[in-house]
Amino acid sequence: MFYPEELVEEIRLKNDIVDIIGSYVKLQKKGGSYMGLCPFHNEKSPSFSVSSSKQMYHCFGCGVGGNVFTFIMEYENYTFVETLKYLADRAGINLPEAQYSEEAKKQAGLKARLLEINKEAAKYFYYQLKSRRGQAAYDYLKKREISEETIKQFGLGYSNKTGDDLYQYLKHLGYEDSILRESGLISFDETRKVYDKFWNRVMYPIMDVNNRVIGFGGRVLGDGMPKYLNSPETKLFDKSRNLYGLNFARISRKPNMIICEGYMDVIALHQADFTNAVASLGTAFTGLQANLLKRYTKEVLLTYDSDEAGIKAALRAIPILKEAGLTAKVVDMKPYKDPDEFIKALGAEEFKKRMDTAGNVFLFEVEVLEREYDLNDPEQKTRFFNEIAKKMLVFTEEIERNIYIEAVASKYRIGFDNLKKLVNRYGAQLVVGQNDQPKERITQGQKQKNKSEDGMKQSQKILLTWLIEDTGIFDKIKDIIGPGDFTENLYRQVAEILFCQYETEHAVTPAKIINRFESKEEQNEAASLFNMTIRGEMSDLERRKALEETIMRIKKNSLDVQSKKAIENNDIQALQNIIREQADLQKLHISFHDG
Ligand code: UTP
Ligand code: MN
Repeated sequence: MFYPEELVEEIRLKNDIVDIIGSYVKLQKKGGSYMGLCPFHNEKSPSFSVSSSKQMYHCFGCGVGGNVFTFIMEYENYTFVETLKYLADRAGINLPEAQYSEEAKKQAGLKARLLEINKEAAKYFYYQLKSRRGQAAYDYLKKREISEETIKQFGLGYSNKTGDDLYQYLKHLGYEDSILRESGLISFDETRKVYDKFWNRVMYPIMDVNNRVIGFGGRVLGDGMPKYLNSPETKLFDKSRNLYGLNFARISRKPNMIICEGYMDVIALHQADFTNAVASLGTAFTGLQANLLKRYTKEVLLTYDSDEAGIKAALRAIPILKEAGLTAKVVDMKPYKDPDEFIKALGAEEFKKRMDTAGNVFLFEVEVLEREYDLNDPEQKTRFFNEIAKKMLVFTEEIERNIYIEAVASKYRIGFDNLKKLVNRYGAQLVVGQNDQPKERITQGQKQKNKSEDGMKQSQKILLTWLIEDTGIFDKIKDIIGPGDFTENLYRQVAEILFCQYETEHAVTPAKIINRFESKEEQNEAASLFNMTIRGEMSDLERRKALEETIMRIKKNSLDVQSKKAIENNDIQALQNIIREQADLQKLHISFHDG
């Protein structure tokens, strides 16, 4: 979906950043800006600054920054379009409906109606729970120590004993059989007999991140089979892409997320103020879910059941989480089965302690492996250590590997050196196996290359920051350097916008630039440019020297890149131009220094 830039800019201008952030964070005026406690990391003294003149924010503690759009995106975890809608609404601006194809419209219409049906059903179940007919279900929840407030927050309900209750109700609201069939809430058998899918169960509405009901889980009251029944997959309900509780967890502002197995665990955890708990939906944890979590956190605590099935589930989830780039730790809940039971028995404080001492996943894997061997038997014990040594090779950094060797060696008392020798032996085998590829050397070379690339990136970043801080520099450098000299893709785009803004308005508006970028990564990166401070106090001369050096490096790099291309294309003309420019650069070097 695409909105014209003028509209985006109008929305930005009509939402003053101090107003907006002030409604989330307590701000105090300090000189030219406002200060408050950063909502994006834990702190005791304010390092979060909001500038009214720049219409931007920046945290000196954790480094986040951006404009009013990125703030709402970060805080509410909205997409750009969701943020735009939200802020437009707030400012009373009408967002035109996006243009959709006929088919897309039809699908959107279908989805919207399915959402309505799910919402109506949730309301109906909730009402049933509170009615006389729902007494047994209500008592059941009370027995499980679920508070009134929690029932309301999670919208818990009851599907009663009459076989087609919900169906009659939805019919009465005007929904036809054809759409009810797609809702997954109603079953139609061959003889066209119709009945409700959920029957005499406690109902758990499943919500997506935007708090919309997309399906249900239903639990029997007491013992019975199956214990849980879940909505089938529908046009709305994709079990592999949603997580129970994520609508609340995503705004919990906790440093990590807790993954558990059951609906009841999520509810018990939230009730005990662990508002960062989520669960998968009766199916195994997926890569899509890992990526979903990664939008909100870097670290995940696994609180899977302590039984055999739970351990298996944890072992399966660990590599998926790692693959997504998340750090995982395992919370030990022994001797209890799941977080719900643990908290009931020992309380929230005890659970918090277990969270704080959550174990590293590697050591968890070692522990699980240990059960397969009889460590009293020398031969099995040897095999066990060999297995561990092989596993150790996943750690490519020597220091890290040593730390794990140390941890395992001391736990099983086999001596650091012994285990290290074993690990090295497997390591050596690995290198021999790849002898036609001198792996070490390649990575060394690669590292060098990356280092100088990072340096160049840094130079380009510094120059952009300079241009924003002191627009007078534009006139001084515009004959030497242009947007095309920024070899970093994102920085080139920023430079293009800045140069253009300066040319047409003789001023730059950094807050306006952020919306040009679509991905969150790009926005953060662009925002970081405007919040960088040039390090330390510098005299005018030092400043000029540093600026000059930066420009030279960028230009030289740009000419190098161009000449490589010219040589590749055999473009003599271009090559000659570049050589002339390189010569000019020496002269400019002097004149700039003097001027
Ligand atoms: P559990 O049986 O561990 O769930 O199953 P729980 O939430 O702890 O259950 P109770 O209410 O405290 O006894 C874990 C999850 O597996 C799915 C559900 O999503 C459940 O929350 N499940 C379990 C099913 O889908 N069907 C079943 O029959 C059982
Ligand atoms: Mn349970």
